[in-house]
Amino acid sequence: FRFFRWVWRVTYLTTFGVLGFTAYSIWEARNPADQLEVDQSKKTLVILGTGWGSVSLLKNLDTENYNVIVISPRNYFLFTPLLPSCTTGTIEHRSIMEPIRNILRHKKRAVRFYEAEATKIDYEKKIIYAKDDSDVKGDTMETEVPFDMLVVGVGAENATFGIPGVREHACFLKEVGDAQKIRKQIMDCVETATFKDQSQDEIKRLLHMVVVGGGPTGVEFAGELQDFFQEDLLKWVPQIKDDFHVTLVEALPNVLPMFSKQLIDYTESSFKEEHIEIRTKTMVKNVTDKFIEAEISKPDGTKAIEKIPYGLLVWATGNALRPVVKDLMSQISAQKNARRGLEVNEYLVVNGTENIWAVGDCAVANYAPTAQVAAQEGAFLARLFNTMAKTDAIETEMRELSAKQSSAKAEERTAILNEITERQKQLRRVKQIGPFQYSHQGSLAYIGAEKAVADVSWFSGNIASGGTMTYLFWKSAYLSMCFSTRNRVLVAFDWLKAKFFGRDVSRE
Ligand code: FAD
Ligand code: NAI
Repeated sequence: FRFFRWVWRVTYLTTFGVLGFTAYSIWEARNPADQLEVDQSKKTLVILGTGWGSVSLLKNLDTENYNVIVISPRNYFLFTPLLPSCTTGTIEHRSIMEPIRNILRHKKRAVRFYEAEATKIDYEKKIIYAKDDSDVKGDTMETEVPFDMLVVGVGAENATFGIPGVREHACFLKEVGDAQKIRKQIMDCVETATFKDQSQDEIKRLLHMVVVGGGPTGVEFAGELQDFFQEDLLKWVPQIKDDFHVTLVEALPNVLPMFSKQLIDYTESSFKEEHIEIRTKTMVKNVTDKFIEAEISKPDGTKAIEKIPYGLLVWATGNALRPVVKDLMSQISAQKNARRGLEVNEYLVVNGTENIWAVGDCAVANYAPTAQVAAQEGAFLARLFNTMAKTDAIETEMRELSAKQSSAKAEERTAILNEITERQKQLRRVKQIGPFQYSHQGSLAYIGAEKAVADVSWFSGNIASGGTMTYLFWKSAYLSMCFSTRNRVLVAFDWLKAKFFGRDVSRE
């Protein structure tokens, strides 16, 4: 009996603790404290982008020490790992967006934000050229922002490898708008396929959902789409039962190349069970409005071109450089051999520069272009900048003390000397910031049918697992990683909503 009373007390206290913490987080998020005003006498630190790298930097940066300016065409942070779930309405897109204004309003010293695209970085003149590309424009649409220090965190754009027709006909999956477009197009294909007198061939084409790229983006989207079909579309539009079909096309011999062999096999067999077709060794070479042309490698080593009709085409073949990054690289001679992005040193300083740092997908630091890497790089830069500010402050104090010492009376000199020694010790401690070291926590991907795969680092080893338990782990990991309590609550509600009421099949 005592034992049960004890368990009851622990449960009771934990529940109250969690509720109390959640309530406090919500209150704190809604009631930010007063901020210090912008101080233009401080060094101007310009941060480009509001993605994983830049926001992680902002979150950890002590803005009191700098005159911080953020420039990005997106006035929110996007939790990309759950973006594939927005394409089918499992999660509503606003649940994974966090307004940058909320983030900045919680900083100690005010930070200026300009919703604009950086069109050019003039390295020599230390100026950013920015352009307002939004729908509503004022008299001023273009401006120049000078900087002392610059962090480039603009991410990457979708790779198309110059394949004709991709930009015109395919959907991408990188931004909120992309997910909304896919969601709309899935339902458009379904409704058009069920239009009166549609021919059988056309029905088959319209209901053929083709995903190009067997990396995690393509795999997760294919899994989500098949879930949508099995759990909702089949119920409300049963006549598409035999014709709705998801195909994943990959140029390499297998999907998910970054996962272990065991998990690749698991994903492939799970897709087979779910009736998602995987076409490996199939490289898309051309895209038209109704079919793709792919080069297939046959088992005997010969190659053939095949036409694959589609209703929806989602293109997920990885990253390419943004023009603003390419242009910056062309201005710096040390970057002339760089191909995949801005090459940086172990302190994330862009090689060939002294006052420009790069984080995330636009930087080449020998790590995969993932959110995990970008977030750790951003947090590292915040530590580095906080340290640099402290160092500057101590050095200024030391200079002042030295000046005071030369004009001080003999009896005061010893005290001043002691203070200088103390500052020197402080400076040594502060300066002890090592180079950036990435700590890989593992890779996770949802593969549909309430299954996920995980390659998780565990002490010095690695654990590979796949299945429903891994799916629960995936859910709890991503829920805990959401940016704010608000995001966490909204995502949890969206999951419950989809479970109880199903996904919405109306076309917006
Ligand atoms: P981003 O997060 O892409 O942010 C770039 C920012 O720069 C944006 O705010 C953009 O608006 C802004 N910008 C663009 N151009 C300009 C310009 N000219 N001037 C100023 N600002 C500009 N990684 C994982 O580790 N785990 C996952 O589960 C995972 N899932 C993913 C799912 C999807 C669908 C996608 C697309 C990616 C996923 N990733 C995942 C990869 C991860 O999202 C990226 O590696 C990460 O976003 C990179 O962060 P970043 O800060 O470099 O760029
Ligand atoms: P990716 O680069 O990981 O995969 C792209 C795939 O497309 C490659 O396997 C490539 O062989 C294939 N491909 C390229 N051209 C092709 C063609 N013409 N025809 C057929 N196939 C072609 O790209 P993805 O999935 O967009 O991911 C980008 C980055 O984001 C990666 O670093 C990835 O790790 C990360 N990410 C991580 C996720 C996770 O951890 N769950 C989820 C999504 C992305």
